[in-house]
Amino acid sequence: MSIIQKIVSKWQYFVSSFFYLGYTQKALQYSFWRDGIERRFPPPALQGFERPGKLLEHRTESWGVHCRFEHSELTVRFLAADLVRCDWLSEQLPVPYAIARDEWPALAVEVQAGAQGVEATTGAMRVRVTPDGRVRFADADGQTLREELPPDHQRGGWVHRVSLAEQERIYGLGERAAPLNLRLARDAGGGATAFQMWNFDMAGRYGPGADPLYISIPLYISLQPQGSYLVFYENSFPAAFTFKQEAVAAFEGGALRYYVGIGPVEKLLERYTELTGRPPLPPKWALGYHQSRWGYETEAAVRNVAQAFEANDIPVSAIHLDIDVMDDFKAFTIDPKRFPLLGEFTRDLARRGVRLVSILNPAIKADPDLPIFRDGMERKAFVTTPNAQAVIAPVWPGWCAFPDFSDPEVRHWWSEQYRYLLSLGIAGFWHDMNEPAAFVAWGDRSLPRPTRHSMEGRGGDHREAHNLYGLLQARAGYESLCTFRPEVRPFIVSRAGWAGLQRYAWTWTGDTESSWGALAMTVAQVLELGLCGIPYSGPDTGGFRGNPTSELYVRWMQLSAFLPFFRTHASNDARSRAPWTFGEPSLGIARAFIKLRYRLLPYLYTLCWEASRRGIPLVRPLFWADPGNKRLWDIDDAFMLGDALAVYPVVREGERAREVVLPAGRWYHFWDDQVLEGPGSIRLDAPIERIPLLVKAGSVLPMEEDGHLALHLYAPESGAFAGAIYEDAGDGYGANRIERLRFSRRGEGLVLERSWEGGFAFPYRGVRVFVHGVHVGRARVDGRQTSWSGEYLQVDSFRTLELD
Ligand code: GLC
Repeated sequence: MSIIQKIVSKWQYFVSSFFYLGYTQKALQYSFWRDGIERRFPPPALQGFERPGKLLEHRTESWGVHCRFEHSELTVRFLAADLVRCDWLSEQLPVPYAIARDEWPALAVEVQAGAQGVEATTGAMRVRVTPDGRVRFADADGQTLREELPPDHQRGGWVHRVSLAEQERIYGLGERAAPLNLRLARDAGGGATAFQMWNFDMAGRYGPGADPLYISIPLYISLQPQGSYLVFYENSFPAAFTFKQEAVAAFEGGALRYYVGIGPVEKLLERYTELTGRPPLPPKWALGYHQSRWGYETEAAVRNVAQAFEANDIPVSAIHLDIDVMDDFKAFTIDPKRFPLLGEFTRDLARRGVRLVSILNPAIKADPDLPIFRDGMERKAFVTTPNAQAVIAPVWPGWCAFPDFSDPEVRHWWSEQYRYLLSLGIAGFWHDMNEPAAFVAWGDRSLPRPTRHSMEGRGGDHREAHNLYGLLQARAGYESLCTFRPEVRPFIVSRAGWAGLQRYAWTWTGDTESSWGALAMTVAQVLELGLCGIPYSGPDTGGFRGNPTSELYVRWMQLSAFLPFFRTHASNDARSRAPWTFGEPSLGIARAFIKLRYRLLPYLYTLCWEASRRGIPLVRPLFWADPGNKRLWDIDDAFMLGDALAVYPVVREGERAREVVLPAGRWYHFWDDQVLEGPGSIRLDAPIERIPLLVKAGSVLPMEEDGHLALHLYAPESGAFAGAIYEDAGDGYGANRIERLRFSRRGEGLVLERSWEGGFAFPYRGVRVFVHGVHVGRARVDGRQTSWSGEYLQVDSFRTLELD
């Protein structure tokens, strides 16, 4: 950074601090009050034990085993042959907000007891409980994958220790600003990071190493030479996780109820999302490019942005309206002076294929003149202190009350409120500040911990409800959109969340700084969320706070174009930022990558369909393609997009070539068809207009070109490959069409067989077939010799294509 840039950035920071000064007095007042409430209502003092003691007896059940110890009890219940739920006797069970499936088919579980303890076995998994309360999880061959020490349960909290092998890698925990392998994360003092489970508003800026962030999920995946497993603790209380010689999970309260699954990572994700729900198919437009900025202050400003996309020949699917759109920042309102004809405007934009997504914060201005506040107070919709005083804290509109989304009636009430914005044609909602966030002068940026929540009527405090707040707001919003606009698919982006968020919403990585470090950490963040079952995420392209150089913005665009949620967004104190801001050559590069993104939609949409059926993420770690290859286990500056594409973004300033670690097999350079053989590593050019992008041999990459379905065939060395393409109207719940492909090598040539099912008519003008990796002289379409134009073969339709 030059001196001038530094001065400008300090000045901008100074100016923006003034903006926040208006809130300072309230923040001070609130922080005093919050501390007072926390002192006055400390958490209950509970008895417990340091060790469960000796195993006294066990009871065999059809689904597993129940063990009684001197000071505790443990229930081991198989839900599936490779998935088990463990419950150490706790004061109170969790409300199952994360859980989507509670009925599981009966299984054959065998239980044997001996001097080593009790062992429950299915064909796929063995769980042994030792006489002193250790629990060991092994695969069918008896290879141990996870070994737990007896739990410690004191003062209402739980400390759960698990031994870790030296080579073991750990991934997960929701959204983290850490390396993909969480064991590599270091705190400021150089020690292993203690990851906190407490959804946290980063209040405008964060970079690598910050912890916690907006989404914490007590789930991790362990990858070891002998296999992998997933553990999910169904406990939303504050907790800390550390990974040294042991994995230690320390919860402040709640139940020690957890699920352990074993198997390959792909299967773990399938099981986990069977348990916590799969992401519904999004509307196709959501996969396009989104433009956003805090600071589009008028309808005219938004119109100008939309027009600039047209003028610059750049496609855009959605423009986001930040808090500027609201009347005095009040939820569910539109400022009538600055956005006077929003209904007409949304219709006009819709005709050009652009949707408006509106921000929506959960806090309701505590203003007795405001009908929604009065109504909420009458219905007792807001959370209170233990002595029934409304919890009022400052957020954007000033003093606010907070809806209790853990009350089903409040969720219903909240869901009714979307109707006005829906009537204006708002296409989707961006739930922000829903950790929930409050403005503070010190201490935690949320509500007092003793705050009471309904928890479906059984009652609970904020320690338990805090991490669930964003999830439950998303649930209310999702139900609203399903009810009041049933003909189209809901689109919600939520900043905060917990396990199961994928059932209702997408997310983004929040207020990152505009730096190379923040660009680099994005890859691990999106991967980590995907490994926690949340497949749809992405960053503020260019970073939220600060001003990227044109190089940083271009590199960020080149990354985001391959991430599920592709949006530019920036803070109101950043310079205006859009694909054309930096002039040429950045504009041309941004345009090319945005257009490439749109060309890839048939591929991306098919991945969404796969995610909706199997729960597996679109963006996957490189090791997904080659799990046994340890060299790939820590890689977080590259990723797979589906099975066909490997993406190697440039995340370092000035870099014009980068190391590319290849998973096993043959790979093609997307840009020039150069062939690379993995496993191994190679340095590839990455001039400013490109990043290394590889396609796996044997793939059929479906793209859209000039209204045609372009099938790009990447010749395998040998063998046969199966693939599919999913098509439907792009929204709603009508008919679909699944094209099944079988692609194989025949001698020097290739064969592509195609069949389809479903009532949706083929939506393209025809098919164009491109071949990569072999020279094709002749083509036979359904047995008939056909001319080959040179670059590609164009046909209306086909069932069998023979190329040689
Ligand atoms: C928060 C959000 C950010 C938004 C801003 C103003 O900082 O994370 O995306 O622009 O609030 O609403």
